[in-house]
Amino acid sequence: MYEQEINRRRTFAIISHPDAGKTTLTEKLLLFGGAIHVAGAVKSNKIKKTATSDWMEIEKQRGISVATSVMGFEYRDFKINILDTPGHQDFAEDTFRTLTAVDSVIIVVDSAKGVETQTRRLMQVCTMRKTPVMIFVNKMDREGKNPFDLLDELEAELGIHVRPLSWPINSGAKFKGVYNIYQDKLNLYTPNKQRISETIAVDVKSNEFDEMVGEDDAEQLRNDLELIEGVYNPFSKQDYLDANVAPVFFGSALNTFGVNELLDCFVDIAPAPLPVATEERIVDPHEEPFTGFVFKIHANMDPNHRSCIAFVKICSGKFERNKAYNHIRLGKSFKFASPTCFMAQKKETVDEAFAGDIVGLPDTGNFKIGDTLTSGELLHFRGLPSFSPEMFKYIENADPMKTKQLQKGLDQLMGEGVAQLFTHQMNGRKIIGTVGQLQFEVIEYRLLHEYGAQCRWQPIPLFKACWIESDDKKQLDDFMHRKANYLAKDKDGRDVFLAESNYLLQMAQNDFPHIKFHFTSEF
Ligand code: G4P
Repeated sequence: MYEQEINRRRTFAIISHPDAGKTTLTEKLLLFGGAIHVAGAVKSNKIKKTATSDWMEIEKQRGISVATSVMGFEYRDFKINILDTPGHQDFAEDTFRTLTAVDSVIIVVDSAKGVETQTRRLMQVCTMRKTPVMIFVNKMDREGKNPFDLLDELEAELGIHVRPLSWPINSGAKFKGVYNIYQDKLNLYTPNKQRISETIAVDVKSNEFDEMVGEDDAEQLRNDLELIEGVYNPFSKQDYLDANVAPVFFGSALNTFGVNELLDCFVDIAPAPLPVATEERIVDPHEEPFTGFVFKIHANMDPNHRSCIAFVKICSGKFERNKAYNHIRLGKSFKFASPTCFMAQKKETVDEAFAGDIVGLPDTGNFKIGDTLTSGELLHFRGLPSFSPEMFKYIENADPMKTKQLQKGLDQLMGEGVAQLFTHQMNGRKIIGTVGQLQFEVIEYRLLHEYGAQCRWQPIPLFKACWIESDDKKQLDDFMHRKANYLAKDKDGRDVFLAESNYLLQMAQNDFPHIKFHFTSEF
């Protein structure tokens, strides 16, 4: 029914290690879409390096990150939604969740630095979810690694086959441009931060081509292209959609170069909204009734009102303003008078939105991460994955008069997905698990300012928390008995093993071969 609207939507995230060029690329994509008119207009959502553990500083920047949480724009006949992901690694969990709301991903890699830690970790999530990825090798205007070496590195480090669809002519000071393999066109490089360069259709074997790029470079490019055809399989869109191969483009986001090659191919091949699994059945985006789930909650725009925005990914049909929808977990009906959509950096109230779009719903604490909304049907979108945290602390009440407030605040913050809560099975104490120190500060600050509660931390030297399961009940019982001191329950009551070190984890794996130890809650 809404076929056309839904088919033209492309919802994706750009991911990268900090500083590879995610913000710059996002901005250039908006420039192409005509959503902004000058470069430099998009404020970075990243937390500046100088303020790595300064929560007040982050608080100041939160206004910015709301505005850039989702950026929609029109390009050709497509409606493109870019979901922003926080650059700071302490918010990696947020990024993981955002990846559950996209249909594809573009990875930005710095041509000199290659694959970096954050990229590797985020790619693991894409692999797990079979999300199609494209790769943009950025900063070709600087001396970088040899492109063939880089392709090998991408394959080895990211665990995916690659297929170059554009190819650089030199790099750094000698950078002359890219050859668009996908469209058989040449794009000659002129450094320019604002202008979009022209591409030329030209036969690489012609004299004209030699004149354009110089004989030596022309020869080199012909050799490179021959090698590419010899080494890599011909590009197959299906392989990309099946997440078996990642097309690679080269360019310089800062110089608005090589970006249109990427974008044109992206809209051609990237998937329109895909079916999404619920506990009950698979939901097709073209089904008429509306369904959606909350993948992100942006809290506390105004500390006095505890107001938040719940970001809902529309999975099927059409969402309409002021229409009653079923909030499945609460079993209640809700109407939304001012849902917002995001175009470039503008947030505006919308009357309708379609599968693939993200709507922001102003909320006062009714939503938790993973909540399902539908036109009526009783559905539960599969829980969003949690990943084993890296840092653990016991949380204690520092003000006995405010026990209730602490409980309420923790409940709400965990519902927003700020961190993970485990309950130790022996002593009943609460453990907060995070991916970085910053989240502890965020929790402490927000408990105090929004709930009037005070907490104290006590570090626990843990290596990982792993979700455990086994078909061998006897072995599981034995394990639970012997490791009783190291067991906790997660927020959903699932069993978690608290490993103190990698060594002890390996010992447990050896001693209990029939128990599976999972590092994510989605298995
Ligand atoms: P991020 O969001 O992935 O963290 O990266 P961001 O786009 O902020 O880019 C990080 C730095 O790399 C910025 O410089 C940016 O200007 C630069 N950059 C991005 N693309 C290119 C490129 O194609 N070539 C070159 N040479 N540099 C590029 P900065 O000095 O950290 O910030 P700024 O002061 O320029 O904003």
